[in-house]
Amino acid sequence: MKFFVDTAEIDEIAELNDLGMVDGVTTNPSLIMKSGRDILEVTKEICDLVDGPVSAEVVATEADAMIEEGRKLAKIANNIAVKVPLTWAGLKACNTLTNEGRMVNVTLCFTANQALLAAKAGASFISPFIGRLDDLNLDGMELIADIREIYDNYGFETEILAASIRSVNHMSDAAKIGADVATAPPAVIKKMADHVLTDKGLAAFLKDWEKTGQKIL
Ligand code: E4P
Repeated sequence: MKFFVDTAEIDEIAELNDLGMVDGVTTNPSLIMKSGRDILEVTKEICDLVDGPVSAEVVATEADAMIEEGRKLAKIANNIAVKVPLTWAGLKACNTLTNEGRMVNVTLCFTANQALLAAKAGASFISPFIGRLDDLNLDGMELIADIREIYDNYGFETEILAASIRSVNHMSDAAKIGADVATAPPAVIKKMADHVLTDKGLAAFLKDWEKTGQKIL
């Protein structure tokens, strides 16, 4: 499973990128707002830093305007994936931009039927929002499993990008189901390494090592 980082904070992306944990980045208007940066500037910096796809989201609501915004965003760098919402206008924009050879990430997906439409429109990525479904007492992970089954039934090449990830369990569950990608906040990715028994075991090893009086370097 590929790891995308769900943030527009350059320092956080760079830190995980140096660890080899970044296969791509997703941003959205709320994340750009949080960063306090200009969308074109910060997205360019992210694209320069990361080799994989960097999602930049359109904000128009009509298809023609979305297509124009998408073309402008795609000019930032070759690794831009234009992010469009899962509306009929977004699907039309997805189809046009895909036919122009651009990567498109269809976002705000909450049903298997929406994911089916995105695949038909030629999306490179579909972004089902797990956490926001869980927030409503629905089962976000069940949606990932349904989309996996449908895409596999018909050999759709659209990649399933599990989004709105809130916990480390979301990461392992998405991987077990076979999501192609998971996009998570940096804090969630960092937490994946934590275990109390790892900390306890390491402390005990180091204590015993001290008693040997040896040195490796
Ligand atoms: C994905 O592309 C979105 O930017 C993101 O995962 C949304 O997450 P949230 O529901 O935590 O805002």
